[in-house]
Amino acid sequence: MTPLLKYNPSASVGYLATGRLEGLKTSLEHARDETLSDVELWQSGDSVPAEKDPLDAGFIQWPEELLADLKENGDNSLVARIEKCAARIRKTADSVVILGIGGSYMGMRAMYEAIKNPFHNELSRDEREGCPRIYFEGWNVDSDNQQALLDLLEKRAGSVTDTSAPEGRTAVVVISKSGGTLETAVAFRNFRALVERSFGTDAQQLIVPVTGDSGRLRDLANEAGFEDIFSIPDGIGGRFSVLTPVGLLPAAIAGMDIRQLLQGAADMTVHFRSADCGSNAVLDYTAVCHAFETDHGLVTRILSTWGCKLEAVGLWYDQLLAESLGKHEKGALPLTIVNTRDLHSRGQQHQEGTRDKLITNLLPGAPNGAAVTVPKRDDDHDQLNKFAGYEVPRILQAAIDGTNKAYADDKRPTADIALPTVNEHTVGQIFQMLMLATVVEGRLVGTNPYGQPGVEAYKKNMNAILSAGT
Ligand code: PA5
Repeated sequence: MTPLLKYNPSASVGYLATGRLEGLKTSLEHARDETLSDVELWQSGDSVPAEKDPLDAGFIQWPEELLADLKENGDNSLVARIEKCAARIRKTADSVVILGIGGSYMGMRAMYEAIKNPFHNELSRDEREGCPRIYFEGWNVDSDNQQALLDLLEKRAGSVTDTSAPEGRTAVVVISKSGGTLETAVAFRNFRALVERSFGTDAQQLIVPVTGDSGRLRDLANEAGFEDIFSIPDGIGGRFSVLTPVGLLPAAIAGMDIRQLLQGAADMTVHFRSADCGSNAVLDYTAVCHAFETDHGLVTRILSTWGCKLEAVGLWYDQLLAESLGKHEKGALPLTIVNTRDLHSRGQQHQEGTRDKLITNLLPGAPNGAAVTVPKRDDDHDQLNKFAGYEVPRILQAAIDGTNKAYADDKRPTADIALPTVNEHTVGQIFQMLMLATVVEGRLVGTNPYGQPGVEAYKKNMNAILSAGT
């Protein structure tokens, strides 16, 4: 098993008043207690005080519960049912469209980009080890984008003589907790029609809804009689649902080890519950972000991801933090960047712009494959022979160290979240760490991190405008 990720704020604490972090210890421990006792309150079924409504604390113990269920109930457990459905979809379809938006999409995209081969869809079915090509839709309203994917899949369906062979077949996983989100629902109509048109009654097996226990998608799914339907548990809100069937089913279809995802998250929860301030990644990260925001006005939180894999983890976190704490005219601005790419675009501002930024590096650790090296050449016009044989991870590390030094020289605070490597276990850890930190910070500053009342306004207006037919 991979070790736990490490949070290291040593390049930033010197800018805080002496004893500032120690001074936050009692409030942080109180926020942790409240975060954990919310789970009991939610499980008890007792009425929730108005200021805590909604209370979606179910994500906290969920990974441990799922692993315990797997141990106890084996083939009848939820994990086994997800894996079984995923294996069926892998066998019967070579293209899978995942439909969803916000919390019903971003976590899956984060895992896919972090863990899978970046050219997955370009590989042959054998090279993909039987995992289908994966596409995301329903996360926007873009006619050309949707049409291009529909055309591609329609063409693929028509290009095979044996329509029952997986190569030409498309499956659809439609994800919406409320079941009424317009973007996803419109896309689903189109992709459902494609599957029904191309594969007739097999559509029942090729369409898998993941939704709440009630709502339009649930009603539609019950009526249609799809072979598998997965529930998004009550008490787990959209952006906290990545480790429910919302993320686990698509991840299993894409060939990821969902048990390791859950194990990484469960390990982080244990760490959060038991480690003291000063060696608790969740509490220490929360403390540093909070102290810089309140004491120094660092209201922009830059998650500086290094290499290509972790950008979508950052985008998932942008949504998590923004929707959870951006309330009551408060809340820091999360901003994900990808380095070294963005050193050539945003770097100037981060080095010399307004002093309102706390930079947290999200470091990917050791590469999974053999390292690429700088080749030697007989001609040396680009003068790179002095680096011949250097491994690319060494160049990345020099960029990280050089950038941190430049920020330190200019008295810009930075901190590191260091993953040992990027795999299912560490991605599970970072998901759970950042979800817990978001809730702890909400409790610390008196903002209910659950719910997103502000998002309802645009949905209501959009529906009203469409219903008015203007
Ligand atoms: O965090 C949230 O709850 C939101 O981002 C939702 O996930 C998003 O609005 C999609 O909602 P639904 O799953 O109901 O379609």
